[in-house]
Order: sequence, then C-alpha cells, then structure tokens
Amino acid sequence: MSNKDQAKTPRHVAIIMDGNGRWAQLRGRPRLVGHHAGAKRVQEIVEACKPMGVKYLTIFAFSTENWKRTQTEVAGLMRLFKRFITAKAQELKSKNVRVRFIGDRVRLDNRLQDLMDNLELMTADNDGTHLTIALNYGGRDEVARATKRLAYDVAAGKLDPKSINDETLPKYLDTIYLPDPDLVIRTSGEARISNFLLWQSAYSEYEFIDTLWPDFTSDEFAKVLARYGQRDRRYGAVKA
Ligand code: IPE
Ligand code: IPE
Ligand code: MG
Repeated sequence: MSNKDQAKTPRHVAIIMDGNGRWAQLRGRPRLVGHHAGAKRVQEIVEACKPMGVKYLTIFAFSTENWKRTQTEVAGLMRLFKRFITAKAQELKSKNVRVRFIGDRVRLDNRLQDLMDNLELMTADNDGTHLTIALNYGGRDEVARATKRLAYDVAAGKLDPKSINDETLPKYLDTIYLPDPDLVIRTSGEARISNFLLWQSAYSEYEFIDTLWPDFTSDEFAKVLARYGQRDRRYGAVKA
C-alpha cells in the first residue's frame, strides 16, 4: 500500500451491525440464531482492521432502545454477550486488541458488568486495534448523561459556564478517548443511524449496505474501505 492510499484509510470505522434477525428469518430459524451468526463475524472484522490500516473499530452491539424486544431475545443477547466476552478474552488480549465499552452499564447485570470491566483491564496495555463495543448505548442517552456530569461540575464550581464551547461536551462523553469516526457503516439496507454516535458522527462519511451483518465478510469490508478512499471530505470548506 502506498503512503497516498494509507492516508485515505479511515482511522476510525464505526459499524451498526444490523440484520441478524432477518438473516435467521430467511432460514426459518429463531432470531437468536442470527445473533450467534453475527457474533461469529465480529472476530473476523476485528482481525481485518490491522492489515487494512484501521486503528479504531467501534461496533454497535445493543442500543438503549433494544430493551423493547421480547424478554427471550433480550435475555438471549445478554447471554451471548457474556459468552462472547468469556470465549474471546484471551484471544483479544494475545492479538494486541484493546477493548473498551461505551454505553450505560448500570442497567446490565452484575456478572456482565464484571466481565466487561475485566476485559477492559486485561487488554488495557494493548496498543494494536482499539475495539470499542457499544452495549446499552444510545447517543441521546450518552449526551444526557454527559450533560448531567457537566452540570454537576458547574454546580461544584469546577467548570465556568462562560468557558463552555463545542470542545467541552466531548470531554464528558463515553468516547472521550476516541477520535471521531471517519466512516460509519450500516448493514442490512436500513438508511438510518438509530441513535448511534450522534455527536461524534457530525462529519462522518456513511455507507449503507444491503448485506445482512452475518454475511458481512472481510472482503466486503475491504471494498467499503476502498470506496471511502474515493470520497472527498470537505468539512464545510471549498476544495482548494
Ligand atoms: C442487529 O440485528 C443486532 C441487534 C440490534 C442486537 P437485528 O436484531 O436488529 O436484526 P434485524 O434488523 O431484525 O434483521
Ligand atoms: C441498531 O439496530 C442497533 C444495533 C445494531 C445494536 P436496530 O435494529 O435496533 O435499529 P432499528 O430499530 O431498525 O432502527
Ligand atoms: Mg435491526
């Protein structure tokens, strides 16, 4: 890869992994079978990041709105998250992946929270791919939680309201340690962002692709990244 190509590789890719339910439905299977098939893809895409030059990968695993699903599906997803973390922890550590979670953990059960904390700790010294998993994450919820903390700092005299500008709020967001996503991919053909990274994606490029998440291969990932390389990001300016 030439230097020119490298510069056109997105540093941070965020993915809305959608379409697991439809993938299962097409096969006449329960939705959870689709979620399991989807989880299998995650490892492949995480491992594809390093050779493709993607430093940060953020994946949307469960939204603050997904609690509206049936108890069976929610419970099955929570079991799957526990299983995934337990089964993959060692491999992620040895592959130099640094894992962090964003979202509101409070509503998750203690066992899952412990597994999440442990995986973050286990991989804290890794500096290869930075994998962020959005679990019980909602962009509006994140902004609301951030605003609450900011307000407490103002009330405590630690933050002067006069100093607040567009660089203040991001310091209170779950993503404080992340650059903004350069590219947001959504699988399954839906062209909406469903409350994902609302603040952070102000200038992200979007790719809405028809493939259902369990069918999304690293080859297709490479093609999406190549298309990103053709895009012209202007950030409101006129091209020189
Ligand atoms: C995405 O797949 C995974 C989660 C939201 C947890 P869906 O479960 O939304 O699959 P579809 O959209 O119903 O096909
Ligand atoms: C977005 O998918 C959330 C995740 C992929 C985790 P949804 O399937 O929940 O989104 P909607 O309901 O189609 O907007
Ligand atoms: Mg969906």
